[in-house]
Amino acid sequence: MRSHYCGELDASHVDVDVELCGWVHRRRDHGGVIFLDVRDRSGIVQVVFDPDTQESFAAAERVRNEYVLRMTGRVRCRETGKVNPDMQTGEIEVLGRDLEILNAAATPPFQLDDHSEAGEDVRLRYRYMDLRRPEMQDNLRKRAAIVSWVRRYLEDAGYLEIETPILTRATPEGARDYLVPSRTHPGQFFALPQSPQIFKQLLMMSGMDRYYQIARCFRDEDLRADRQPEFTQIDIEASFVREQDIMTLTENMLVGLFKDVLGVELPEFPVIGYDEAMQRFGSDKPDLRNPLELVDIADLVRDVEFKVFNGPANDPAGRVAALRAPNGASLSRKVIDDYAEFVARYGARGLAYIKVNDRSAGVDGLQSPILKFLPEQVVADVLDRCGAQTGDVVFFGADRATVVNDALGALRNQLGEDLGLVDDRWAPCWIVDWPMFEQGPDGGLDPVHHPFTCPAGSLEAMRENPLATRARAYDVVLNGYELGGGSIRIHDPKMQQAVFEALAMGQEAQVKFGFLIDALGYGCPPHGGIALGVDRLVMVMVGARAIRDVIAFPKTQTASCLMTAAPSSVDAGQLKDLHIRLNS
Ligand code: AMO
Ligand code: AMP
Repeated sequence: MRSHYCGELDASHVDVDVELCGWVHRRRDHGGVIFLDVRDRSGIVQVVFDPDTQESFAAAERVRNEYVLRMTGRVRCRETGKVNPDMQTGEIEVLGRDLEILNAAATPPFQLDDHSEAGEDVRLRYRYMDLRRPEMQDNLRKRAAIVSWVRRYLEDAGYLEIETPILTRATPEGARDYLVPSRTHPGQFFALPQSPQIFKQLLMMSGMDRYYQIARCFRDEDLRADRQPEFTQIDIEASFVREQDIMTLTENMLVGLFKDVLGVELPEFPVIGYDEAMQRFGSDKPDLRNPLELVDIADLVRDVEFKVFNGPANDPAGRVAALRAPNGASLSRKVIDDYAEFVARYGARGLAYIKVNDRSAGVDGLQSPILKFLPEQVVADVLDRCGAQTGDVVFFGADRATVVNDALGALRNQLGEDLGLVDDRWAPCWIVDWPMFEQGPDGGLDPVHHPFTCPAGSLEAMRENPLATRARAYDVVLNGYELGGGSIRIHDPKMQQAVFEALAMGQEAQVKFGFLIDALGYGCPPHGGIALGVDRLVMVMVGARAIRDVIAFPKTQTASCLMTAAPSSVDAGQLKDLHIRLNS
């Protein structure tokens, strides 16, 4: 039906007869001449109809936005002065001859212009319209290019793409499972995979040696701007490898990908220990573009009378830390109160601060609600340690270390953005030396990654002091986003059993993962891998604000699809087949 795409036409096509198909992006009637901006996947071109072509002109008068057209015409240069440098095809236009209306369109629910301010709900309900916007088309095109590049890279490196089941058993990655009732096994359920973790390990035990998959994963968890209930991973596993092998493979992959797809040279990836990341940034996914750092001051405030500080300063699980915001002394009381409210969301019970109006004037140059609780020398030492200068404000967090890290870590990000401190560059890093376990809300141990991660050190040491045990795990972080995580896995059945026991899931593990423990006993190679979130990677690479903008048909914050109205009720017959009776 067509000879060219709209967006590919330029001055080299002048005098060429073309046949185009596309949508009416905009229609302008200039009294006697009608201009149609016609859009297809490749871009937009201007087509002009004048009354000389009577029938076509009449049709052009009838068309409205989003009508679907086929037309013929001849490319010509635009008159001087009419050239549009903002348009890819801005040097030329097509003088239209025949015009066929292939389909009419109802009035669009929102404007498709680049800077559309349509609400998210409307965009998701009419997703097929939203996806017509050049920005969304570009995001999906880049996504395809990224995945295609990664496939080629991994295949060149000897990795085999192998599919793993979607109807399966639970894989523990820390979220709730999506369950699928079985018709043939009354009362029993499949779980959709939270990741292919167990299967990729089994593939190593099968001798497949190098595996990858562009794998769909399902997690029923609280959604945020960078999370979806179903998402895609670049999932990788290899046999006979150590941490460095997987880290090098991943790093080279990201460096090559950024170079070829974005034309960007990524810098070297610094390797940062988990403890150091928490200490300096209060986060295990630090945005290294942000120059702000947390500074410990517990040793300086151990003996002060101010209970807010001396309590956590003397508690081994506590932390007292300061965060200096350069040129923050001009922040209003209202803004500082807003920050206090902001950190409260992360569990902080307050946000002490000192404004440094004039560093040379001693305490007289300071402004703060906590000065009256602190000896002058302590204040001076604290300010010295933070490097505070005239014009700065220093914020404080004092609480359990986890609360201080969450609160000041989030404040660091927010201040970085609000004060314009985050520079425009790419800042990747590795986070290593993770703890193996953390204390769960019920007092027991939870895995920090998943229970198949190999602990560093001996089985005995792990049993003796699980909370001090490190994991052979690594996360890759870019500009404050966790792009991926992986580890060397347990390949010794005794160690796997011991980790399940440490997690108080000895019995449960036998039922759920007995097949895996058995498999480890039949000659399992040392192995390890990683998984990168495709959606997050694409989001960061195209500079989208939300993961939804790089997924063709995403779910809402409440995990539903507004377009198809899923999830939905099903009819009684289907429920009966599945042996399910509803409570309400
Ligand atoms: P993990 O749970 O860290 O590891 O997931 C790996 C990466 O997947 C992405 N990701 C998500 N993206 C969008 N929405 C979500 N809800 C979501 N959850 C995770 C992130 C994350 O870094 N089996 C292990 C990997 C391994 O050990 O090899 C795993 O799944 O980018
Ligand atoms: P208070 O004595 O509770 O009025 O607190 C005095 C100052 O300390 C106020 O500015 C509070 O915001 C701040 N503050 C209270 N608790 C904490 C905390 N856990 N961490 C940091 N600052 C706090």
